[in-house]
Order: sequence, then C-alpha cells, then structure tokens
Amino acid sequence: MSKKWPQAFIEVVDFHKSFEGKKIHQGVSFYIRKGECLGLIGGSGTGKSVLLRSLVGLEKPEQGQILIDGEDIVPMRERELVDIRKKVAYAFQGGALFDSMTVYENLAYPLREHTKLSEPEIAQHIQDQLKEFGLDPSTEKQYPNSLSGGMQKRVGLARAMMMHPQVVLYDEPTAGLDPYNTKRIQESILKMKAKGVTSILVTHDMPTVYAVCDKVALLQKGRISEQYVMSKLLAEPTALMTNFITGEST
Ligand SMILES: Nc1ncnc2c1ncn2[C@@H]1O[C@H](COP(=O)(O)OP(=O)(O)OP(=O)(O)O)[C@@H](O)[C@H]1O
Ligand SMILES: [Mg+2]
Repeated sequence: MSKKWPQAFIEVVDFHKSFEGKKIHQGVSFYIRKGECLGLIGGSGTGKSVLLRSLVGLEKPEQGQILIDGEDIVPMRERELVDIRKKVAYAFQGGALFDSMTVYENLAYPLREHTKLSEPEIAQHIQDQLKEFGLDPSTEKQYPNSLSGGMQKRVGLARAMMMHPQVVLYDEPTAGLDPYNTKRIQESILKMKAKGVTSILVTHDMPTVYAVCDKVALLQKGRISEQYVMSKLLAEPTALMTNFITGEST
C-alpha cells in the first residue's frame, strides 16, 4: 500500500461519506504519527462520530482510504475487522456499557470474546484495570446505572483498554463531567499516551484538547478546514479556531 504520508501510523485519505443522499464528508484527509493524539473538533452533526466509527469498520465510506499501520481497512470484511478492533479501541460517545450487566461482566466481556484467559486471570485483570482507572475494587459488583456519570465514563474507558489497543478513539470522553472527573479522564488519556497509544479525541472540550493533544483539526463543511500542532495554535490562534473555541462558529 503506497502511503501519502510515510511517517503516519493512521492516515485517512479523501474520505467521502453520505447518508440518504446527504453528503457528510467530502474529502477528509489527515494523518497521525505513532503515539500522537489528534484532537478532532467541529460543530454538531459535522460527522465526527461517523468518522470514528469508520475507523473500526462500523461504517463504510463511498470513497477514500483508511490506513492503520499501513493496512487499508475500507475493503476489509467482518473477519478481518475483528482483528482490527483488537488493535483499535473505540470508546463510544455515552460509554455504551451494557446496563443489564455488572461492571465486572462489562469488563470481562472483551476478554471472554477475544482471549482464552481463565476466570481467575480475568478477575485479576479486572481488579488491575479498576485500579488503573482510579475505581474502587468493589465497583465491579455495581450496575452501570448505579454509578455516577464520571464513573460510567471511566468504566467505559477501562473496558476499551482491556485488550491493550495500539489505537484508541475517544468520542466525547469528558462531555457532561465536572472538573474533577474531567481531570481524571485527561490523566487516563495521558497514561495511555505514555504507553505509546495513538489516539483521536473527538470533543467540544477545548481545555482537554490543550491538556492531551499534540495537534488539532477542525472538521467543517465536509473537510478538515484547519489543522495545527498545539504549540503553534497556542502561539498564534487563527480567527476560525478562535471563533470555534469561543462558540461563535460551528
Ligand atoms: N446511520 C445513520 N443514518 C443516517 N444518518 C446518519 C447516520 N449516522 C449519522 N448520520 C448523520 O450524519 C451526520 C453526522 O453525524 P455524527 O454523529 O457523526 O455527528 P457528530 O459530528 O458526531 O455530532 P455531535 O457533535 O452532535 O456528536 C448527522 O447529520 C447524522 O444525522
Ligand atoms: Mg458525535
């Protein structure tokens, strides 16, 4: 596979997607180096979640390539996508925990699905993971709806991380959270980055972008209209980004 950007770990090239004749993406292109975090911002309905879903093969573009570690996932069938999903974790907008299962069952799910670990090994992994995400060991017995919003988000992230993915896609991980829980999520994202995880963070929360991202891209009118490395954006914010950040433009 010829690569447009040789240094890229993830690259999206000329991505087009529409629903019922309505064009959402009209040539989205960007790349991310290994271990980097890209902040993806843009107004509601611009197609951020659809783009993330496409990166795990849950949506197919009409045109374009999605290369992950050099492999184009667009033509892949479900069997190959199962392997991609071990490598690429998607932390869904809203957590997407199974409400009828305890936290333990939620966290055990990917391990039972994808590994041959014994039950005591699974139990140990779950305890380690709860600790890693700052959750009390007794949380495993609780059902998602008995947890606070911040705890649900952390359990959602903990589940996404169970398979030690190389790539993590975060969809609004801090939406609706108070500053304390937002900080905990930022710390978890930074911890994953320190382990070499490559990530995309979709968010409306600019302080979190500043805290964890290396670069930021603005999705607007079906394309990436602006893209900056964080240091440059901080030094000289552009009018468009500034308007987006202060909520004057979507
Ligand atoms: N399965 C689908 N069928 C039809 N339309 C869809 C489908 N999924 C998404 N869309 C439409 O595609 C557009 C982009 O949706 P998407 O959820 O990606 O937006 P978003 O940028 O994530 O917005 P938000 O910031 O509100 O989460 C929206 O107009 C949405 O209604
Ligand atoms: Mg969304």
